[in-house]
Amino acid sequence: MRDAQPSAIFLKDYSVPAFLIDATELRFELGEEATTVHSCLTLRRNPASDNATAGLTLHGAELELLSLAIDGNTLSESQWSVSEETLCIAEVPDQFELRCSTRIYPQKNTSLEGLYKSSGMFCTQCEAEGFRKITYYLDRPDVMSVFTVEILADANTYPVLLSNGNRTDVETLEDGRTRVVWHDPFPKPAYLFALVAGDLQAVEDTFTTCNGRVVELKIYVEQKDLDKCEHAMLSLKNAMRWDEQVYGREYDLDIFNIVAVDDFNMGAMENKSLNIFNTSCVLAKPETTTDAGFQRVEGVVAHEYFHNWSGNRVTCRDWFQLSLKEGFTVFRDAEFSADMGSPTVKRVEDVSLLRSTQFAEDAGPMAHPVRPDSFIEISNFYTVTIYEKGAEVVRMIHTLLGPELFRKGSDLYFERHDGQAVTCEDFVLAMEAASGMDLSQFRRWYELAGTPELDVSGSYDAEQGRYTLTVKQHCPDTPGQTNKPPLHIPFSVALLGEAGALRLNLQGQEADSETADNTEMVLHVTEAQQQFVFSELPEEPVPSLLRGFSAPVKLHFPYRRDQLIALITRDTDGFCRWDACQQLGILEMTAAMESAKAGADYQLSADFSGALAQLLADDSLDKAMLAMMLVLPSEAYLAEVFKPVDVHAIHHARERLRRQLAEALREPLLQTYERCQDAQPYQANAEQIARRSLKNTSLAYLMLLGEEGIAQKAREQFAESQNMTDRLAALTTLVNNEDSAKAEALMSFYQDWQHEPLVINQWFQVQAASSAPGTLEKVKSLMNHPAFDIRNPNKVRALIATFCVQNAVNFHREDGAGYAFLADQVIALNRSNPQIASRLLQPLSKWRKYPEAAQQKMQAELKRILAEPDLSRDVYEVVSKSVS
Ligand code: PHE
Ligand code: ZN
Repeated sequence: MRDAQPSAIFLKDYSVPAFLIDATELRFELGEEATTVHSCLTLRRNPASDNATAGLTLHGAELELLSLAIDGNTLSESQWSVSEETLCIAEVPDQFELRCSTRIYPQKNTSLEGLYKSSGMFCTQCEAEGFRKITYYLDRPDVMSVFTVEILADANTYPVLLSNGNRTDVETLEDGRTRVVWHDPFPKPAYLFALVAGDLQAVEDTFTTCNGRVVELKIYVEQKDLDKCEHAMLSLKNAMRWDEQVYGREYDLDIFNIVAVDDFNMGAMENKSLNIFNTSCVLAKPETTTDAGFQRVEGVVAHEYFHNWSGNRVTCRDWFQLSLKEGFTVFRDAEFSADMGSPTVKRVEDVSLLRSTQFAEDAGPMAHPVRPDSFIEISNFYTVTIYEKGAEVVRMIHTLLGPELFRKGSDLYFERHDGQAVTCEDFVLAMEAASGMDLSQFRRWYELAGTPELDVSGSYDAEQGRYTLTVKQHCPDTPGQTNKPPLHIPFSVALLGEAGALRLNLQGQEADSETADNTEMVLHVTEAQQQFVFSELPEEPVPSLLRGFSAPVKLHFPYRRDQLIALITRDTDGFCRWDACQQLGILEMTAAMESAKAGADYQLSADFSGALAQLLADDSLDKAMLAMMLVLPSEAYLAEVFKPVDVHAIHHARERLRRQLAEALREPLLQTYERCQDAQPYQANAEQIARRSLKNTSLAYLMLLGEEGIAQKAREQFAESQNMTDRLAALTTLVNNEDSAKAEALMSFYQDWQHEPLVINQWFQVQAASSAPGTLEKVKSLMNHPAFDIRNPNKVRALIATFCVQNAVNFHREDGAGYAFLADQVIALNRSNPQIASRLLQPLSKWRKYPEAAQQKMQAELKRILAEPDLSRDVYEVVSKSVS
């Protein structure tokens, strides 16, 4: 909170720090009223800095300064000055020891940044700039220091005291406190610091590294959650092994700790050897956790573990380079999850997310490059662009280099930069050096915001046996960026004949040994317009394009319906099969919406339902894939396809088509539902997950038929299933179809699970996502439910964010009440938790996509927020960038 308007900081203004901190000693006296932090920093001037006389400026926020001394001499008040965000000492020696004591109030810290309390325990969250809320420091990632941390706390209330590295001392003091000392031998930036104090229990295991070192693994949770750690532990060990095998990365300390906390702004945090997790990303057991939940735990545990190399051993020079660690690590965890389960399913899930949320971000007022040029508040840049598009950029490098050269590149990157804070450019340079590949044009992916569009057309010359693909690319303007130059786009293609993929002979390109005889090829699209001619083709092929989603672009190709059906039923690339289904679904949606506009009835095309029936009959198809192919394009994806976005027309057309699809496929869906019943006890393995997914997708369709016999099956599944996946799927369909058993089911579900906060979040979510009229009123009343707590981000996400993001028809109510509701919540959260407030606000920022009447109401709410006094930097940045 500030008086002046917050201003932006720019990548081009980066300069090296004037001082370095070789050693950081901290002493925490944790108290019930306040906590005192004593720091002793060993500082020296940075020889690389061109300012040899600069004073020392440290970051600090919301701190009470108690004392300050240099080399043992207490400073008088005239020797230093503090502002809201800094502490300046005008005159300092070239090398010195700075001692500083501050008082902080973790109990009152609702921002969940810095040191705070969650369910009685102390914990920290320092990324990106939270450490400055603990003590004055050079809180920037290019200042790396060796930390020694002493913690003093009441022995009864806080039997577990943790920090990074190894515990080097422990003693019980006479006053009833415990004193422990932790030392982390690896120099690290302050954002990787962590401290935990609480009454926790641990699940323990060990991992023996490839070099035979035994690592102690511990997952700390509250007593009641000890039975929910098995899956995270298994995931951790799998991730450790995988990183050795696939990247040659061994763990580097003797301990690896995970702590679960209830109140957390994000998913989890990779603090060195002391990962702190949102309970939602670590706890799992079949009775309380869905399959999606199990997979999320596996993915997040791996993600944080992988950061030990891609993030901690090699870190970011500045926060503009955030995607250096996040994009790379998301790519790594996606490949891990693919290896643990079904690669195609994982790919389709990731592409769906990218197309519905990242493309939307790229088209909105907060659009930014993978490496942004400026920001007001870094917390606003933990985005799908930095994470998922960043991962796509790394994936494209992997595609261009191939797996062997990519591995050589990553080895070189880790070898060159171990212990350093580096840039995205360093990553690309290592990839170039190891592969000999020229990535100069490719670098534009880091610089340009916006989603490139590929307009592709194909023509077949029967006489010559030639097929020509014409590819045009352009990237739309985004805030501050116009007339963008072409990108280097790896465009993976195949040509399908009647009997399978055809051999590719690309004219003008001498046979590349890897692809010469092959049926799949990566084309290098580098110009605004290009042609690719394939020869020796005996028949007109169906092009299979952007295979595996080889680049994060919007592809346009004027497919005929029969070509899409050929892809759906015959393509060898799982992603393209699924996407052909989506594209056919879009054609159906377009037709249905046009009919509705003209007041006519649309009837689902028989070729579409016929193709899906054929898939349902195909026993060789992966069931999880099949389940995804059955689902029509999501409303969120459709909101990226149609302009302007009429959410009501989209919703109603889609619901009609779903019902017609259910009617057309009634028999096969019923058979599928029965065929997929599980005989075995629950396991979160790929095969069972696929079955359940197909079974529950079938049930959701069948319920649309409004048949009592089917409703009965859903009620039985709800009452009898022993796992949360099936139970929640049944509850969801009972709620969405306003079944007569809905109220009772919701009530009994609450009663059964009221002591499991994570389950109650799902209960909130199901209700908030219901498209039934009156859901807004329901959500408002649920905010008064004793289980709701606006200070807990998981609850805010489950109830408020679900309503605003996953319930388009209700959020976009014509009277604007949905918008006003969101603005009210943003205003309420702005003070207590700016990060959550700002993230919640995003749906309003996309107002330009909607019809005029909606635009005005959304804008009015943005203006109402902007007029609030004391706007946090977080909220200010998003509102001010969206309103204009
Ligand atoms: N660095 C964390 C991750 O992606 C995310 C995070 C960012 C957590 C900021 C908390 C605060 O793994
Ligand atoms: Zn991360």
